[in-house]
Amino acid sequence: MSKRVVLVIGTPCVGKTSISRLLTSKLGAFYVNLTDLALSENLVLGKDEERTSVIVDENRMRHRIRAIVKNCDKGDIVIDGHYAVRVVPDELTTCVFVLRRDPVELRKFMAHCNFYGRKLWENLASEILDVCLCEALSVCEKEKVCELDVSGRNVEEIVCEVLGVLNGSKECHVGVVDWLGKLESEGLLEEFLRV
Ligand SMILES: Nc1ncnc2c1ncn2[C@@H]1O[C@H](COP(=O)(O)OP(=O)(O)O)[C@@H](O)[C@H]1O
Ligand SMILES: [Mg+2]
Repeated sequence: MSKRVVLVIGTPCVGKTSISRLLTSKLGAFYVNLTDLALSENLVLGKDEERTSVIVDENRMRHRIRAIVKNCDKGDIVIDGHYAVRVVPDELTTCVFVLRRDPVELRKFMAHCNFYGRKLWENLASEILDVCLCEALSVCEKEKVCELDVSGRNVEEIVCEVLGVLNGSKECHVGVVDWLGKLESEGLLEEFLRV
């Protein structure tokens, strides 16, 4: 039986971990959180002092992910992390869900996650400029990439849609949001895009 490897990516605070955990339980899957993996197995090169975060050793992590997928005894593996497409080889990847959230809502979520100042504005700019989506499209086959607008939706609803895509009953697309256009039409672009 071939294994399904499902990536859940998106800007920090967009809701990846909440969705991945429920998805994992519904699928009876094996769950990998890349942030936890990097820290628990010390797959790091050093610290980014300015951003108070760690710099992940992507080569060592790629080797580790290959081993996890190979040795996993479950049929489905859910991998949660904003840089998952950089460390999970494309040939192992079944599907990449790129979660998108309206920047006005995401800003509030980020405040709850204790993001402020430069870290908040940099991450909001990433969402506005489609950074995760572009990265996924640059390394994965387009057919594998599924962009989901999760704004204003609860975790249960979103997981239901993800399951629909995985079982083939729902189609998925890319190009479903236009945050630049939306913010501009609301007169909010300058306030939000300050980097
Ligand atoms: N669909 C949702 N609706 C409301 N709140 C959510 C939703 N998804 C996540 N959250 C909340 O937003 C915050 C960030 O979610 P999290 O899953 O940790 O994001 P990520 O893993 O992408 O950083 C958490 O406080 C979480 O409880
Ligand atoms: Mg998370």
